[in-house]
Amino acid sequence: MCGIIGYQGERNPKEVIINGLKCLEYRGYDSAGIAILNDGKLKRVRAEGKLENLNKKIENIDFNGHLGIGHTRWATHGAPSEMNAHPHYVDGVSLVHNGIIENYMDLRDELLSCGAKITSETDSELVAHLVAREFQISKDLLKSVQKVLPRLEGAFSIVVASEDQPDRLVAFKNGPPLVIGQGDGETVVASDIQPIVAYTKKVFYLEDFEIAEVTREKVEIYNLKGEKIDRMPLEVSWSSEKAEKHGFPHFMLKEIFEQPAAVQRAIAEYLDIEKKEIQLGDLGFSDTFDQYIAKANKKNAIETDEILKNVERVFIVACGTSYYAGLVGEYLIEKWARVPVEVEFASEFRYRHPVLPKNSLFITISQSGETADTLAALRLANESDVTSLSICNVPGSTIDRESTGHIYMSAGVEVGVASTKAFTSTLALLNIFGLYLGKLKGEVDRDEEVRLVEGLIHLPSQMEQVLSYDKFFSQAAETLKNFKGFLYIGRGVNFPIALEGALKLKELAYMHAEGYAAGEMKHGPIALIDNRMAIVVVAPDDDLYEKTVSNLEEVRARGGQIISIGTEGNKKLKELSLHLLSLPKSEWSINAILSVVPVQLLAYYVANALGHDVDQPRNLAKSVTVE
Ligand code: F6R
Repeated sequence: MCGIIGYQGERNPKEVIINGLKCLEYRGYDSAGIAILNDGKLKRVRAEGKLENLNKKIENIDFNGHLGIGHTRWATHGAPSEMNAHPHYVDGVSLVHNGIIENYMDLRDELLSCGAKITSETDSELVAHLVAREFQISKDLLKSVQKVLPRLEGAFSIVVASEDQPDRLVAFKNGPPLVIGQGDGETVVASDIQPIVAYTKKVFYLEDFEIAEVTREKVEIYNLKGEKIDRMPLEVSWSSEKAEKHGFPHFMLKEIFEQPAAVQRAIAEYLDIEKKEIQLGDLGFSDTFDQYIAKANKKNAIETDEILKNVERVFIVACGTSYYAGLVGEYLIEKWARVPVEVEFASEFRYRHPVLPKNSLFITISQSGETADTLAALRLANESDVTSLSICNVPGSTIDRESTGHIYMSAGVEVGVASTKAFTSTLALLNIFGLYLGKLKGEVDRDEEVRLVEGLIHLPSQMEQVLSYDKFFSQAAETLKNFKGFLYIGRGVNFPIALEGALKLKELAYMHAEGYAAGEMKHGPIALIDNRMAIVVVAPDDDLYEKTVSNLEEVRARGGQIISIGTEGNKKLKELSLHLLSLPKSEWSINAILSVVPVQLLAYYVANALGHDVDQPRNLAKSVTVE
């Protein structure tokens, strides 16, 4: 994980780097540091903990140079501490690193035996030593990095600066992403595009095993053999989004409240509201990524339809919350399109020698578009004869670029480490995708399409209504935080929502929580129930409602305290529950999206009541770029 950035140009590097690190803090937040030229030396300041600690330290420090690098860390080798924070500095060479150097033990022994003074527990510092040693000989930063690379094993990216060549940075990528922005007399290198688009829209995405020598004026890219690669920058249209809380105490709460707008944006692209019709348009299956985003009018809808019509099987592969979105997708696609769907954790899929039959569609879901396991699964799928389609929130992310088809969540930048709006936007998009596939397959008729599109059109305003439970949870959290644990249960499409609810509570409140299929309770978990256990049941009106209610009777008989998420007017649920949170009446597939809001609010307020940092929960990072 970790976020890295480098800047050179006329602006104040301290500002560019700190603003960039703010955008990248989602990648890790256990320590941060910068090294910026000052009187010809790379002056280094590092701090343990969140970026604000570094900010305080450098507030009153000025740097008179115009080149610098910065880093925000998620510890792999070595505890989170100032000593282990990046940049590392050895004899005029300074380096920031993202990823893992697998042969670090051998390198460490070798360097120690040559008398190197190693001052941290990290694998990263060793690379700085190796580059500094080579630099003594070649006096050329690019050559030094080129010489060192064959000695390093693992997936990692680096950006290196040298006091003796203060007009350039050298960057290398193998694994974690690196993007280079080429502005007018300035360049920015960063782990993602957000810190760059504030200054330029011309970008180079480094591919694996590429090295770039970056000066203010130009970017030169080489392969590992040292051969120059001719590449024009890509012109992107994405603009920078300032991560601001807009009066909310946390990004997470702001992002929960942004969901109606995010969902509206996500579906607007694919809905003809007047005709009440879904149009998927051109998903770009036949273009390279560069061609796809350069197209003014995405008109190849016919070809997209032809490809989708032939799909006989769907695989959905993702991690964490995105995986749960995939599970919802399974219910929707199988119901509407009658195509078999398999959903799998990316970390498992890639290691089980999966069979991907011809005419399969391989869907990845990823907010960040950089999750290492999901990317590896996609690469595996791309080696076989299947069509890949990504649902990503970050256009231009590695997963987006390496997929043949593209759907964007359009949720806007998600800063809270726990995913919220990206999840609900994805669920809405999966509704659209499932329905469209059903239409193409002749399984969804016009009446059904109109009815379900109407449901989608009302979704944003219904989400607004459900957000009013904010008040309820802000008060109830004081009681809820005292339960010994939480069981989340649901059936059918609501089962993945139960899983998501439990994950949210675990990651934010650090409480024991489990998601279960309601019908499975009697096969074991019912033994957990007593009056100190809270049961959150997701049971809006649908075909399975009565069955879920029977499962609840069993829970109630054993003293479990029930919090229900149901549909308004539902008397039976009310009788059984300590609290009933009722949702406006809607389609079964829309209910699942509405039900997410209360489980998010519950986790947020309980975590808050426990005094946890909800935006940056312990041990987590938003983008998991290691296996
Ligand atoms: C949980 C959460 C994670 C991510 C997972 C996948 O709130 O955010 O479980 O969903 O790490 O990340 P992406 O979607 O970026 O691939």
